[in-house]
Amino acid sequence: RRTLATAIAGATTAALAMTALDAQAAQTINLGHTLSDSSHYSVGADAFKETLERLSDGEFEVAEHPSGALGGERAMIEGLQIGTVDVVITSTGPLGNFVPETYVLDLPFLFEGYDQARCVLDGDVGQALLGKMGNHGLVGLAWSENGFRHMTNSKRPVTSPADAEGLKVRTMENKVHMEAFEQMGVHPTPMAFPEVFTALQQGTVDGQENPITVIVATKFWEVQDHLSLTGHVYSPAAVLGSPILLDGLSEEQRGWFAQAAQASAEATREEVSRLERDGVELLRENGMTVATDIDKVPFQDTVMPAYQIYTDQYGSEMLDRVRASD
Ligand code: PAF
Repeated sequence: RRTLATAIAGATTAALAMTALDAQAAQTINLGHTLSDSSHYSVGADAFKETLERLSDGEFEVAEHPSGALGGERAMIEGLQIGTVDVVITSTGPLGNFVPETYVLDLPFLFEGYDQARCVLDGDVGQALLGKMGNHGLVGLAWSENGFRHMTNSKRPVTSPADAEGLKVRTMENKVHMEAFEQMGVHPTPMAFPEVFTALQQGTVDGQENPITVIVATKFWEVQDHLSLTGHVYSPAAVLGSPILLDGLSEEQRGWFAQAAQASAEATREEVSRLERDGVELLRENGMTVATDIDKVPFQDTVMPAYQIYTDQYGSEMLDRVRASD
């Protein structure tokens, strides 16, 4: 009988120890982004979750919060600084308000295509910019992607800057973008993304600009008739972490986060490439008129003063480094 009692006690102790270990192991990581759960950001969030949970052998568990459930991008970046959010996938839209060095990436017509943009972000300049995040209460984990941005509106086809003149267009909360649109004669209206669909629906603004990825994921065809493939600016996305979480981790654990962010960026870029191939047709099928044959030169000419305004304020070092690295 003593043997049975000892065995039961032993098994109970082991079960309790396992429960304690499980409870300790499953640290929940809250990951937020603003797009739907069918978007390219969600593809990236799934890859982050799969990689971190696998590498950490269940020590971390990732809870995904898509669709702006944790707020717009600016609010989520603030959340990282104060530790209420752990990981965020965000465009650079509001990032320059926190890390001004990243404004260089928001200059219109800076990159000619995806290969060039990805190469710069994966090279020294991109890595230096991720490093700068540390001076501003953020951890830069990896450069992911949103895509080249195009204009949509509910009024008329836009094939030249003259067509765009006078339109009220929602922009990101980014002064480099706003400046460029002002030069184009457009009335820029900065707004957090979760408010954009309703603003378009109610006619508060005539148009918006975003990559094919976002136009598809948000079903903008329901509120916008015209798409112009202006490709006026490349929109990177950053996978950012909270220093309040990451500074308390071991080097090995931080390594898992870095690998998970890298896997997330790769999966997102693949999805962006897929949507660049198939997305425009989908938008046409859903009733949008698409202006594909856009002469970019007049658009480039109108927005050029934005470069001077940028360098007057931030100097030319970062811009020179970007230009030297392609
Ligand atoms: O337009 C924006 O604010 C951004 O492109 C979005 C849609 C939030 C994705 O980062």
